[in-house]
Amino acid sequence: MSDGGKIEQRPLFGPFTETVPQGQAPLFPSRGEAAREVVEAPKPCRENEWLGISRLDELRPHILSCRACGLRDGAKGVVFGEGDPHARIMFVGEGPGRTEDETGRPFVGRAGQLLDYALKSIEFARPDVFIANIVKCRPPQNRLPLPPEVQACLPNLKAQMRILRPKIVVLLGALASQTLIHPSIRVTRDRGKWFTKEGVQYLVTFHPAAVLRDEAVKKRQLLDDMRSLREKWEEIGRDR
Ligand code: URA
Repeated sequence: MSDGGKIEQRPLFGPFTETVPQGQAPLFPSRGEAAREVVEAPKPCRENEWLGISRLDELRPHILSCRACGLRDGAKGVVFGEGDPHARIMFVGEGPGRTEDETGRPFVGRAGQLLDYALKSIEFARPDVFIANIVKCRPPQNRLPLPPEVQACLPNLKAQMRILRPKIVVLLGALASQTLIHPSIRVTRDRGKWFTKEGVQYLVTFHPAAVLRDEAVKKRQLLDDMRSLREKWEEIGRDR
């Protein structure tokens, strides 16, 4: 079946489907048990404790008091995330940088300004979406969060997603894409691709900080991905 230049979604391991652009090879032709193990990590119990929480403002104090990993010790505070508490589009980055740590707000430094610009290019603004990160506390010297830190923080993001129930999640960069889709994602190769999991559409794109390092090539691609987001939103996102 053809769908606007795409071929039929292919079943993946686990609950994912992959939309394969016409003429391109599928990213996940078939996967064995090893891949299944990576994806199906045991459910941390914090997520279950919070099942009764149905509003982001009720969840906030739980996340702000999180001490599940050592990152909180080196950070000024916890960056919960911000935006429309009923947003149907969620953006997920990596983790707070210095400016975010100082202000308690996600994506407010140079990368955040580029994200604002990208949103504006498709006539969205911050208050139309919800912006969060894989880890909520700034890693020292802005290093990449370590796998145990990601695992420790993931219940926080999962709880936010359970409450928000976004229809579309935009994955900014490798950490978000590899954590929420699959470790084999490579952003340079896979940006612009859509994945579906449990009724939610995931778009892989560049982290704005990566675009700042290579604007000549990546800015145009980021804006192309934003256009794809807008189209998807027109197609499925408007209805609550
Ligand atoms: N980079 C991120 O990944 N998140 C932020 O909030 C800021 C910069």
